[in-house]
Amino acid sequence: MMNILITGGAGFIGSHVVRRFVNTYPSYNIYNLDALTYAGNLENLKDIEKAANYKFLKGDIVDEASVCEIFKEYRFDGVIHLAAESHVDRSIKDPLAFVKTNIIGTVNLLNAAKEFWKDDKDGKKFYHVSTDEVYGSLGQTGLFTETTPYDPNSPYSASKASSDHFVRAYGETYNLPYVISNCSNNYGPNHFPEKLIPLFINNIIEGKSLPVYGDGKYTRDWLFVEDHAAAIDLVFHKGKNHETYNIGGFNEWQNIELVQLLCQIMDGKLGKPAGSSEKLIEYVKDRPGHDLRYAIDANKINKELGWYPSVTFEQGLERTVDWFLQNKEWLSRVTSGAYQEYYNKMYS
Ligand code: NAD
Ligand code: TYD
Repeated sequence: MMNILITGGAGFIGSHVVRRFVNTYPSYNIYNLDALTYAGNLENLKDIEKAANYKFLKGDIVDEASVCEIFKEYRFDGVIHLAAESHVDRSIKDPLAFVKTNIIGTVNLLNAAKEFWKDDKDGKKFYHVSTDEVYGSLGQTGLFTETTPYDPNSPYSASKASSDHFVRAYGETYNLPYVISNCSNNYGPNHFPEKLIPLFINNIIEGKSLPVYGDGKYTRDWLFVEDHAAAIDLVFHKGKNHETYNIGGFNEWQNIELVQLLCQIMDGKLGKPAGSSEKLIEYVKDRPGHDLRYAIDANKINKELGWYPSVTFEQGLERTVDWFLQNKEWLSRVTSGAYQEYYNKMYS
């Protein structure tokens, strides 16, 4: 039996990773440590919550004592660390929350792993899940590789960059076994409707405007969340100690083109006349420090570990839209209460 700690497992990507590990590896005990912030939702894991090899632990990674407690109690062999504050716009409003969870929380986990693995590192692994945003912004050409210098521009990406540096430093200084992956923008079921794709799906359903920042010419590389979970599985099991892997969708889209495609899919699914949803597009004030373009060179993980995305963007978007339309209750539950306050503050 292996005891694996997954942090942030009630969030968007974490829930897909937890499900995959619980279902694929019955011989692992999967412990999901999550503080259940606004972004964490145990409904995301309803289908596996009673599995014999799964246990939810409510806890805050910023709380050093409770992180140590759970390491002591469950003697983890591996950690897959996803818990984070993850939204750039929120980081602009409240950077300190990002310092606390993303930096201090990560260092607490590193300290616990260092302490509990100090006499026997055999088979142990600390996997830190990070983002391509640490590399900063590209111009019209070029790709981020694993050796691109870090150049973060938002409080979110600065906090993730800092946590990556700490993980690497613990590897060098204390010989902590680790791997890091830096992934591009994910999308899919259970995505919290503050990020571009789920926000716009929700707004189209509600007939609200679609707030495109600036001129809409910003570019992101998009990956279906289950393909990211598959990559995480591979990196966790086969990734080389002390290495970084970039993960991306080979799938760049300008925001405005993506939004137009999403509008077409939504019109079709909702049985509306072509062009209806596009009429909701509204160009709004730009995000401060907005990164022009992210694009990932994912050749290392492809060549070394044989990973490649399995879902095309059109298939993935359609599956995502279908999921949101079939899970309107999930959507209305996460968009009630505090979400309305957030929305008014951000978009009024
Ligand atoms: P998310 O915001 O949907 O989920 C984050 C989860 O972490 C939530 O369940 C939340 O409750 C939990 N959490 C937050 N603070 C915590 C704390 N102090 N203690 C314990 N749990 C806490 O995020 P996501 O989009 O699923 O991202 C997961 C990870 O993947 C993050 O580390 C993020 O930086 C990284 N990442 C995300 C993307 C993306 O496109 N979403 C891309 C690349 C990398
Ligand atoms: P987002 O989903 O927040 O991810 P990230 O900032 O981590 O890439 O945003 C994706 C892109 O969409 C980014 O260029 C900002 C833009 N955007 C909008 O134009 N309007 C919005 O309301 C949001 C949330 C994002």
